Amino acid sequence: MTYLVIGAGPAGLAAIRSLKDAGLPVEAAERNADVGGQWLYGAQSSAVYASTHLISSKATTAFADFPMPEEWPAYPGRVQIEEYFKNFAKRFDLYPLLRFNDGVAKLTRQGSGWRAAFDKGETRGYEGVVIANGHLSDPLMPEASGNFSGTLMHAKEYKSPEIFEGKRVLIAGMGNTGCDIVVDAIHRAKNVLWSVRGGNHFVPKFVAGRPADERNHKTKLVLPKWLRSRLHEPAARLLAGPPERFGLPKPTHRLYDRTPIVNSLVLLHLGQGDVSLRKPIKAFDGNAVIFEDGKRDEIDIVIFATGYKITFPFLGDLSPLNWQPQFGAPRLYMNVFPPEDNGLFVAGLLEGAGVGWPGRALQTDLIAAYLKARKGKLIAAQEFRREIERYCAAPANEDRGEHGIFVDFLQYKRDLKKAIERLR
Ligand SMILES: Cc1cc2nc3c(=O)[nH]c(=O)nc-3n(C[C@H](O)[C@H](O)[C@H](O)COP(=O)(O)OP(=O)(O)OC[C@H]3O[C@@H](n4cnc5c(N)ncnc54)[C@H](O)[C@@H]3O)c2cc1C
Ligand SMILES: NC(=O)c1ccc[n+]([C@@H]2O[C@H](COP(=O)([O-])OP(=O)(O)OC[C@H]3O[C@@H](n4cnc5c(N)ncnc54)[C@H](OP(=O)(O)O)[C@@H]3O)[C@@H](O)[C@H]2O)c1
Repeated sequence: MTYLVIGAGPAGLAAIRSLKDAGLPVEAAERNADVGGQWLYGAQSSAVYASTHLISSKATTAFADFPMPEEWPAYPGRVQIEEYFKNFAKRFDLYPLLRFNDGVAKLTRQGSGWRAAFDKGETRGYEGVVIANGHLSDPLMPEASGNFSGTLMHAKEYKSPEIFEGKRVLIAGMGNTGCDIVVDAIHRAKNVLWSVRGGNHFVPKFVAGRPADERNHKTKLVLPKWLRSRLHEPAARLLAGPPERFGLPKPTHRLYDRTPIVNSLVLLHLGQGDVSLRKPIKAFDGNAVIFEDGKRDEIDIVIFATGYKITFPFLGDLSPLNWQPQFGAPRLYMNVFPPEDNGLFVAGLLEGAGVGWPGRALQTDLIAAYLKARKGKLIAAQEFRREIERYCAAPANEDRGEHGIFVDFLQYKRDLKKAIERLR
């Protein structure tokens, strides 16, 4: 029987290719009209806005055997990335395996496999399913009391900066999205306020004219994450500037414990006074916003750049994915394998600057290697299954971010490669 891949973003495309290359029968469903996932600008699942550029350089982000063109800049924009994925799907002949404009509405168990019900009404049985539905599509909206009479939206809806023309704008959230939107707003808005909660490290895009992340990937020796943080944090603080000197909260975590902010412009604008900081939002009152320290400002547009929820709407019961309510996420071995041997695999569910699309491809190569080993290398497959069960039974005591899905890219890619070798 065939395997189903849900989604044709970077992780879904990697999954189709890995299974196809391993000689496993595979087909895929994509609710959008084309491939690219987040990078298909304007699609219902996409949170990408017109000004988006990669925050990881093209050399570290592109699939290992499908580099981005030499003449493209170090951090290509979303138009180029959209083209990149269409070219990737053409180059590896993935289009014939995909159905578009038809998503998976429901997955139900069928024997040892799964039955998928599609949006357009068809149902089909599969031996297993690789879920690559993305985790930046379902907006997380913070709670605030009262009603706001201006325009209020999540960053997912934000596309381009004309909406800011002449307006009093408030952006909430200091992830990479919030930082990009603050920069977008500055040249159009009457004034820009920025509501910030926790602190984060800032990393410049370029050091001495070279992409700042390139050297990280060339290292042969993987130093422990805490030691790398200790070594690189002073450099980041020197090159970008300590965030607290710009009035931002001092980060309480180490550099390599979270995705940093990769934005060379937003601190400049803070320093120039083009944007003013505010505490988290407490309440709305007509066209006014009241902040936690009691400050009150009249605002025309509020944008919540406050992140996303991890959701699997096609699974009525999330226990097959080992769902952890305290994290709002599943607990999966290597972010991929649930403890139950149930034919479900997850691809692309991770946070971690530096993993790039090669990291997603390693995840899906591992899924394919495991599926093949179950038929040809039984002892290795059984040992791998025991590893999955041992990991998932152990308490989740390591700090892996809010959702428990953060990975240290150097160690993670190395672990994936080793696991693939053991199964092949
Ligand atoms: C603004 C922005 C900038 C980013 N910049 C970077 C960067 O510089 N570097 C980096 O590495 N990452 C970056 N990311 C992260 C980005 O999410 C990843 O690059 C990548 O797109 C994740 O791939 P994915 O395939 O896991 O998910 P997605 O790209 O989200 O793709 C998921 C796909 O699944 C489809 N789908 C969902 N549910 C169903 C269903 N039920 N049936 C059928 N199809 C379904 C969706 O339509 C979508 O096409 C950025 C994200 C954003 C929002
Ligand atoms: N240019 C690019 O390539 C680019 C652009 C955008 C996004 N991305 C990537 O896409 C992913 C999602 O990024 P994201 O920025 O959308 O989400 P995110 O990384 O989850 O950041 C959300 C931010 O919102 C803050 N927040 C949450 N609730 C808040 C509240 N009530 N008031 C004030 N702040 C609040 C969080 O602060 P706390 O720290 O206090 O929780 C955090 O700073 C990340 O992996 C990111 O790196 C890349």
